Amino acid sequence: MTQRKIIIDADTGIDDAFAILYGLKSEKADIVGITTVFGNISVELATENTLRILKLAGRENEIPVSRGASKPISRELQGYSTHVHGQNGIGEVELPLSSQRPIEEAADDFILRMADELNGELVLVTLGRLTNVALALRKDPRLAGKIKHLYVMGGAVQAPGNVTPVAEANIWGDPEAAELVVRSGMPITLVGLDVTMKTLLHQSQLDSLKRTCKPENRGIVDFIDGMMRFYFGFYREFNGFRDYAPMHDPLALLIALEPGIVRTQTMHLSVECTGELCVGMTVADLRRKPRVGTPVQVCVEVQAAQAVELLLAAFD
Ligand code: RIB
Ligand code: CA
Repeated sequence: MTQRKIIIDADTGIDDAFAILYGLKSEKADIVGITTVFGNISVELATENTLRILKLAGRENEIPVSRGASKPISRELQGYSTHVHGQNGIGEVELPLSSQRPIEEAADDFILRMADELNGELVLVTLGRLTNVALALRKDPRLAGKIKHLYVMGGAVQAPGNVTPVAEANIWGDPEAAELVVRSGMPITLVGLDVTMKTLLHQSQLDSLKRTCKPENRGIVDFIDGMMRFYFGFYREFNGFRDYAPMHDPLALLIALEPGIVRTQTMHLSVECTGELCVGMTVADLRRKPRVGTPVQVCVEVQAAQAVELLLAAFD
């Protein structure tokens, strides 16, 4: 089987951690590196969590981890989402320390180098702010033509936002970076709240996975169960969801490996960077002859139940 060569870029909170573990387990993915970014938590904590997750998955010192941006490209940091992901970013579950340390090379340089080395084969999956990719594009705009595909967990095109009425967290947290990346012309699939809010994992599914999983996956499944309890708590309090939550970041990684699980539509997209109410909004020009924005593939429909089954099957 040909594996897709993937760099995951993550602000390693709860759903990022789930996505990374899924990527590490999938036979369809060759995770060639993980870059980290501020967002749910600080970039330092995101990096530390990533290293510990690799150890949990038995991949310590095998996959390079590169630290990235600690703040947006051109605005002040707005704070973190510890109310969603916990003070430590992974739902207050403690993971053992790893002996692995991040590489010296910063995330933007790592992305640029890997794009060259992999000669058109590099797939990027971003699970946080687009800051690292934007910084790499600023250093070398030719990057846009060297990436096989960029899957972005972010945006809310025809769905409500989750930070403001119209903005999703990953875009809202660094809109200028998102706009720069969209404009670059890189081949992009946008995995936004339009589909992630329909892809719901229930506690009962985790209970059943705990009963059936292979002994070698026991540690991972217990970790996922522990952090998801925290995440379900947030979604219960803020959204009224009873013991279930959306799979934002895992769905983005799944789509990179199983693109048939979604239906996409080409839309001319722009990111609103000014204004009081709409900053961070992903605006699609749906007129018959679009006049603003850059064409990107926007996920509009998902086979949600099958997506969740595929995600869980990786740990069974
Ligand atoms: O809006 C959901 C996204 O914001 C997810 O990537 C979550 O981890 C946070 O980064
Ligand atoms: Ca994330």
